[in-house]
Formats: sequence, C-alpha cells, structure tokens
Amino acid sequence: MTSYIDAAKAPLKNTGQIKLYSSEDFDGMRKACQLTARCLDEVAGMVEIGLKTEKIDKFVFEYGMDHGAVPATLNYRGYPYSSCISLNHVVCHGFPSDKPLRDGDILNVDITFILDGWHGDSSRMYIAGKPKRAAERLVDLTYDCLMAGIDAVKPGNRMGAIGAAIQELAEKERCSVVRDFCGHGLGRLFHDAPNVLHYGNANEGVEIVPGMIFTIEPMINLGKHHVKILKDGWTAVTRDRSLTAQFEHSVGVTETGCEIFTASPAGHTKPPYASG
Ligand code: MF3
Ligand code: CO
Ligand code: CO
Repeated sequence: MTSYIDAAKAPLKNTGQIKLYSSEDFDGMRKACQLTARCLDEVAGMVEIGLKTEKIDKFVFEYGMDHGAVPATLNYRGYPYSSCISLNHVVCHGFPSDKPLRDGDILNVDITFILDGWHGDSSRMYIAGKPKRAAERLVDLTYDCLMAGIDAVKPGNRMGAIGAAIQELAEKERCSVVRDFCGHGLGRLFHDAPNVLHYGNANEGVEIVPGMIFTIEPMINLGKHHVKILKDGWTAVTRDRSLTAQFEHSVGVTETGCEIFTASPAGHTKPPYASG
C-alpha cells in the first residue's frame, strides 16, 4: 500500500512513501528548476554543426558553479559527467563526447542542478543543422507527449492517467514508449517515490494529490520500444537502432493541476528555438 507523508517529517531517503511538500518547499524547487531551465535556454545558443558535446557538459558544470549549484549527475552512482547528452538512437544517459555534431543530429540534453538542497531536473531536444522529416516529426511528437502527460496531472486523477495520455498519443502516431525508464518523485532527493510510468491505464496508480512533486520524462522511439545498455554501463540505445527523443519537466501538483517548475524563462518549448 502506498501512503503519503509530510515531507518535513519524512526521513531523507526513499522509503516508498510519497512526500507532500509545503509552499516553502515549492519556492525552493522553483528556484532550482528555474536555474536548470535557464541553463537549457543557454544551450540552445550553443548547438550547431561541429560542436563537441563535451563543450556543453563543461558549460553546464561552470554554469552551476557560477550560480551556487552542483550538477546532481556528477558522481551519482558513478556517473562521470555534469549532464547526460543523448544523440539520435541513444535513449538516455549518453556520455558527452569529443565527436563533433553532424548535420541533422538530434540530441537530448538532460541537466539536474542541486540548489539549496533542491533538485531541478529537466531535459530538452536540440537539433544541429537541418533535421530529416522523420526526426523533426519525432521531436515534435515527443514534446506533445510530455505536455499531454502534464495535462493529466490533476488532483483526483490517478498517476496512470499520465502514462495513458502519453502512450495513446505516441501509438496513434505509430511510435513506441520506452518502458525501461520512468519519471520519478524528487525534491531533496534526486530519485524518490513514486515511479512515473509513461504508459499504462488511467485507472491505475496512486491518486494525484496537491503537494506531490515529480518529473515526467517520456522517451519515444520511431521503432520498437526495446532498449539495451552499452558496455560503458550507462548509455541506453534503441535495440533496433531507431531514432528516439525525450523531453522532461519537473512539476508540483496544485489544487487545480500543476506548476511546471522547469518551464523556460525564454519561452522555449521545442525546437527550433528562437535565438537571442
Ligand atoms: N537526469 C536523469 C533523470 O531524468 C537521471 C540521470 S542519472 C545519471 O532522471 F546518473 F545518469 F546521470
Ligand atoms: Co528525471
Ligand atoms: Co533528467
């Protein structure tokens, strides 16, 4: 049985209980998440043909340092970078690299900053040069899947409503939803209860109640949903090598719906991003 617990009275670990946060906690999350969002806004101005993605990673580290924040992924369970950068058929947890971006590459940049103890977790897709039509369509669809999931976040709905909305839209467009990774509760912890599935039935899962904080981060494939992990122990790729895309927001449940903590201050949603 899942239960809810006042976050202020909960131990700082994942006990499987779902923590409910106060409006002061929401203030803390908003600040951490807005820092992450501003950094993702800056990345939009960096992405171009020829860029080595390790330069983005270095920028993320320094952006965090300059703003009193620490990248949560650095040394997290042995993960060696300040960001995850996942290109083309890489589903998630890709390593930044010294390989230059090529015309038409699509990439996800996933950043989590810890600011004053709060975790701001978000990712967006970027495109180098001119995308192929299928790639552009996948990126668009994946953004729409994230927003369909967010629209389902309302007190009274069950958590399954999020996954159901995402799966319905993805499969209607003949794409598939990755099963092996899910969204997660977060706050003072990076990965906490509940798991947020990106597929499933609207009448399953725990009830959504005000004060919950979690991510939604669907990974959508052009081909089949299966993934495999490369020998580096981290990089997840599509088994059929089909293109994949992901967007992620951190949200807090309100009385009427949710607040998107990681919404872009520059108004960026999905590519192409207006520059300047
Ligand atoms: N930021 C990822 C997420 O959305 C987690 C990355 S964990 C890492 O949950 F260790 F791979 F960096
Ligand atoms: Co996440
Ligand atoms: Co993330």
